[in-house]
Amino acid sequence: MKTPILTVTLFTLLTSWSANAQDATTVDFAKQIFPILEAKCLKCHQKERTENGKLIKPKHGLRLDNAEGIMKGGKEYPNENVVAGKPDASWLLKTLSLPVDDDLAMPPEGKADPVTDAEKALIKAWIEQGAKFGDWKGVE
Ligand code: HEC
Repeated sequence: MKTPILTVTLFTLLTSWSANAQDATTVDFAKQIFPILEAKCLKCHQKERTENGKLIKPKHGLRLDNAEGIMKGGKEYPNENVVAGKPDASWLLKTLSLPVDDDLAMPPEGKADPVTDAEKALIKAWIEQGAKFGDWKGVE
């Protein structure tokens, strides 16, 4: 019966170690940023698709499932979705901190889990570091 405790301890050690390591190193888009978008944004911001015979288009024309879409942005803020080096000018990040009753507060209240402060800090660091995608291209 000792195994679960050991596993939990190891897990805690490993995650706290990697959280500390992240502070000093370059953010990896595919490993650290995309999973956040995938869990909390893609439902509404991905390539046009058909579900149960219904055509579902990306909200506001914004696709977050590929590098081009992430940089290009949606109809309201074209080319200001992610401004490399400038988190304060990047709507992808700004929408995450708007008051919940703002139409642009993302994700819309109750539709997906809110983005945590730690996740916002990661996205901010990624933009500050130049918003690089590495080999990741996403869905065509
Ligand atoms: C349940 C659906 C839904 C989810 C989930 C969602 N969005 Fe949105 N998003 C919308 C809608 C609807 C709009 C248009 C809002 C408006 O202006 O009324 C929008 C607009 C935006 C815009 C403005 C785009 C532009 O230039 O016009 C950004 C940026 C954005 N969302 C980012 C995100 C991010 C980042 C996430 C995940 C953390 C997210 N959204 C999750 C529905 C969603």
